[in-house]
Amino acid sequence: MAALANRRIVAGICGGIAAYKAAGVVSKLYQAQANIRVIMTHAACQFVTPLTFEALSHQRVLSHLFRDEPLAHVELAHEADLIVVMPATYDIIGKVAYGLADDYLTATIPVTKAPVLFVPAMESQMYENPIFEENKRKLEALGYRFLEPESGNLASGRKGIGRFPSEEAILQAIEEILVERTLFQGRKILVTAGPTRERIDPMRLITNRSSGKMGYALAEAARDFGAKVVLISGPTQLAAPVGIECIDVESAEEMKDAVLSQAPLADIVIMTAAVADWRPLKTSSIKESKLADEILNLALRRTPDILTEVAKKLKGRKQKPLMIGFAAETGDLLEKAQGKLKRKNLDMIVANDLSQEGAGAEVDTNIVTLIYKNGKRKPFPKMTKRLLAKEILREIAKI
Ligand code: CTP
Repeated sequence: MAALANRRIVAGICGGIAAYKAAGVVSKLYQAQANIRVIMTHAACQFVTPLTFEALSHQRVLSHLFRDEPLAHVELAHEADLIVVMPATYDIIGKVAYGLADDYLTATIPVTKAPVLFVPAMESQMYENPIFEENKRKLEALGYRFLEPESGNLASGRKGIGRFPSEEAILQAIEEILVERTLFQGRKILVTAGPTRERIDPMRLITNRSSGKMGYALAEAARDFGAKVVLISGPTQLAAPVGIECIDVESAEEMKDAVLSQAPLADIVIMTAAVADWRPLKTSSIKESKLADEILNLALRRTPDILTEVAKKLKGRKQKPLMIGFAAETGDLLEKAQGKLKRKNLDMIVANDLSQEGAGAEVDTNIVTLIYKNGKRKPFPKMTKRLLAKEILREIAKI
């Protein structure tokens, strides 16, 4: 817990039954010698009295925007190393996502540049409500962090997801954020994501099922770990992440040009994109009628292999970026991925098993094995692409 000593942490306590458990976390933070300041919403004060948190933090609790040190919310936000909101209720997530700032806590969060960690705890139906999910996704794309709740007994007597995590899990998440904020400080990371589209005519195209989720998760995690990030993305449904330079491309050729101009400036290149392997030999500028042919033979030409082109361009240079590739396969996963690692002269390849449920395109989870240049392998269990992105970056940081 050394990372917590002398850190300025603001704890925002909201109105959920887990507010009483948040008291334990504040106590632990104080014991770890963090400088902890507590803000309570009015609803939080219905569950636990401010006196409890004053006794535990050894500082006055802030709650009334116009009564308790009215301007302190600006100073607190500037000085904070981290803001942890626990329990993060359905209400607070909605307010922050929609830019409302009508109390001490919601007037503090928008001012800060420090990481904000939400620790949601609520009834499963609320946690899985599409409105909540949309607000959470919106905040994640803006760089806000979330610690997933646990599954088990809920205050309602039902069982499900939504339990407040253990004190240890919360302290560990806070410590991790404080330490990892500078993991890639001063480094530039180039990430490619999504599919490419190869035009047949103005309406028709060849593409693939890549959603871009893995690449965007990597770009966002790299940003949260302190890197300067450039994201080169094919067409996806995902919002452009804040704090990241985004370059939109459509075809494999456009992606190649963008990567070749950016890669020499990068310290690390992560090629997550599912680049189309072929493009139509001819692209028509007019939409062809289907009536012309019963059977259409479409001649295709191989697209350039971007990773190979980058290696060619950087050949002979002393300072080369670390090159990381992805390999999505449906069989002989590790052998095929290892072959690609060699062929494309990579430092690491992320082998992704498309044949398993919960892995690959479109879904939010993935099952991967990392393969290193020296042949070492590291398998990961099924996990969300967000968590996996962090794990992959931690491994990259070790190289
Ligand atoms: N890749 C690339 N340029 C391409 C195709 C793929 O740089 N034209 C990159 C991908 O971004 C990925 C890695 O190469 O990091 C492996 O991609 P994958 O599609 O699995 O392999 P391919 O090289 O396309 O080989 P195959 O079609 O035989 O699976």
